Amino acid sequence: MKEIVLSNEEIQETVKRIAKELEEKFKNSDKTPIFVGVLKGALPFMMDLVKYYKGDLIEDFIQVSSYEGTASTGVIHLKKDLSTDVKDKDLVIIEDIIDTGTTLSYLKQYLQIKYQPRSITLVTLLDKKPLRKVDLEADIKGITLTKNQFLVGYGLDYNELCRNVPYIFIPDEDDLARWNQELKN
Ligand code: IMP
Ligand code: MG
Repeated sequence: MKEIVLSNEEIQETVKRIAKELEEKFKNSDKTPIFVGVLKGALPFMMDLVKYYKGDLIEDFIQVSSYEGTASTGVIHLKKDLSTDVKDKDLVIIEDIIDTGTTLSYLKQYLQIKYQPRSITLVTLLDKKPLRKVDLEADIKGITLTKNQFLVGYGLDYNELCRNVPYIFIPDEDDLARWNQELKN
């Protein structure tokens, strides 16, 4: 491991703050917001967020993929759609990290066209700025990253490994070599 970027304590503080911002946003709403977790990376974030959020909400999930190894391929595949009709509802999209912006802008457009929700709020735990290709800003974000570093842990994976690590870190060459070996076995 090269460096721990966010400890679990720091993550929890960040998630609590995001939960408060969302509570504030929906406290006088006439409709129940639908929190849509983007599988699989946003799962730990979504679980903690709904635990801290005080208010009614409905959970749903959507799955897309664009990453292979340590880089975004830029091609998005929709692997799993929503399981509820969200026409005229308030959607809150929960994402682990925005990198190029391709995934979230695709999702936003897709959900808008297919379901015509009343509103879409984009929430990301991490906002990685340097490789942004699409003009996209999250409405609510946790931590802004100014360096282009590949991170794992707390949902973020290297070829599916490390999602279960409770903190976020930068892997070093040894980690990557070990994981590559493991993945071959
Ligand atoms: P984007 O489409 O380039 O914005 O990429 C967003 C998706 O790529 C996220 O949902 C993550 O699943 C993945 N991703 C982006 N950066 C990282 C990283 O540093 N580590 C692991 N996955 C990442
Ligand atoms: Mg993701």
